This record gives sequence, C-alpha cells and structure tokens, in this order.
Amino acid sequence: MPYFKTEVISNQQLASDIFVIKTGWSEQSVGAGQFFMIKAWKNELPLMRPISVFKKEKHALSFMYRVVGKGTELLRQLKVGDEITLLGPSGNGFPCGEVSGKIALVGGGVGIPPLYETAKTLLINGNQVDIYLGFKEEIFAVEDFQQVCTNLYIATETGAYGAAGFITDIIDVTKYDALFTCGPEAMMIKLAEQCYEKNVKCWLSIEKRMGCGIGACLVCNCKTNKGMMRTCKDGPIFSAEMFF
Ligand SMILES: Cc1cc2nc3c(=O)[nH]c(=O)nc-3n(C[C@H](O)[C@H](O)[C@H](O)COP(=O)(O)OP(=O)(O)OC[C@H]3O[C@@H](n4cnc5c(N)ncnc54)[C@H](O)[C@@H]3O)c2cc1C
Ligand code: FES
Repeated sequence: MPYFKTEVISNQQLASDIFVIKTGWSEQSVGAGQFFMIKAWKNELPLMRPISVFKKEKHALSFMYRVVGKGTELLRQLKVGDEITLLGPSGNGFPCGEVSGKIALVGGGVGIPPLYETAKTLLINGNQVDIYLGFKEEIFAVEDFQQVCTNLYIATETGAYGAAGFITDIIDVTKYDALFTCGPEAMMIKLAEQCYEKNVKCWLSIEKRMGCGIGACLVCNCKTNKGMMRTCKDGPIFSAEMFF
C-alpha cells in the first residue's frame, strides 16, 4: 500500500475539541467505514495515527478528529497547504451490501465519522436509514447527518440537546433488520447484547491502539470466538456474533 503525500485543504473547528481536516486525495475508491493511517510530523512521533474517513469527494477526503494527545494536537495545528501523508484506505468497512430493509446506525462522540458515508451508501441502496447520535453535552455534525438519513435521533448525557441520557436508552433494536455502531466500548457492548438477544444482525467498529495499520505488527490484535484478529486488517468492523 503506497504512502500518499498531499496537502491540507482546510482544517476547521466543529466543537470545543473536535476538528475536521480536509485533504487532497487520488481517485482511488474508499469504502464506507474504512480508515487511514495519518502522519503530519517528522521526528516528533514515530507512528502514524488511525483516523476514519468522515466524508469523501472525488479529489478530497475529510477526517473528523478529537484532540486527545500529541498526534491529534499536531493535526490541529496544520494550516491550509501544509503537507500531510495518508496510508490507506485500510480495513474492511461496514458490510453495506449484506444488509437491507430498516437499518440503524448508532454513533457515540467521535465514533460518529465512519457512519456518514455508510449512511449515504445505505440510502442509495434503497434502505430506511435511522441514525442515532449520542453526545456528552456538546453536539456536532448533526446537520451533516440530517442530510443522509430517514430519521435522526439525538441524545445528550446532560440533556442539553435531544433526549436526556444515553443513546442506548432511546433505541428499540427490534425495529431494525440490522444495526451498525461505532463509539465508546460500553455503548457498543450494550447494543451488541441487545441485538444478540433479539436476533438482530449487528456490526461493531472496534478501536485498538495501532502500530503499522496494515496488518504486519499485531499490536492491534483483538480476541474473537474465531481466534485472534487484527483490528486494522481483519476489521475494524466485526460482526457482534464474533464476541459471544
Ligand atoms: C480504526 C480507528 C479509527 C479511528 N477513527 C478516529 C476518528 O475518526 N476520529 C478520532 O478522533 N479518533 C479516531 N480514532 C482514535 C485515534 O486514532 C486516536 O485518538 C489517536 O491515535 C490519538 O493519537 P494522539 O497522538 O493524539 O494521542 P496519544 O497520545 O496516542 O493518546 C492519547 C490518549 O488517547 C488514547 N488512545 C490513543 N489511540 C487510541 C485508540 N486507537 N483507541 C483508544 N484510545 C486511544 C490513549 O490511550 C491516550 O489516553 C480511531 C482509532 C482507530 C483504531
Ligand atoms: S496495527 Fe499492525 S497489525 Fe494492526
């Protein structure tokens, strides 16, 4: 997989610690739910950082990120025209072709970005797409998601916007043929358990610390009932059944 050196097109703040960076891209296709290893530094950090694709255009990609440490802080400091290196697209992506009917997409916090292109694809395929977004207090990208769904539901833990509480409190999984989720582990476990009990197909996007991002170092291994899997290469999307 070749490294792709490109330029920053824009880098905008969406919420207090949430940003969207847009970069140039070749015309190579990118699947819903795939991610890139990203680097915009020389010797400050040894490793690239995995970030999911938020939006894709013919010659550009957008990535939504939360500033949590040195790598994402260096991303935040990038200006229009600065160089950035992408490695990808990596991972399997959500299995949009394997589901049909009423589909729920459930995202929490900065787990929401890979659901945007996924929703677009599912809508184009003729499905009903209901999006559930959960936030602590501050909401972001809601207008973007509004454009790519049949129904949009919001919950905030503080009740500042939408329903008060967790997003898992307001979804009835039995209304759906399949569910895709990405976000905090506790949220995804709860959804996976509900889907498993009610026999609803469910896929999770697993987050692990990554080294190479291309299947070579095994840093990102996760345990499934089919054995150890590399989150970067065999995932990051796994069927929930693989964890029961
Ligand atoms: C497949 C995949 C897709 C991702 N997509 C996005 C995305 O779209 N937007 C986004 O904001 N973040 C995403 N992440 C998480 C992102 O990679 C990390 O936040 C980032 O690498 C942190 O780098 P840093 O140098 O800023 O922080 P570091 O200094 O490396 O870490 C800061 C803190 O974040 C924690 N952390 C770092 N990496 C991870 C990780 N992979 N999983 C859980 N905790 C971690 C560390 O334990 C530490 O507490 C994704 C991760 C994976 C594996
Ligand atoms: S990060 Fe190296 S194998 Fe997944």
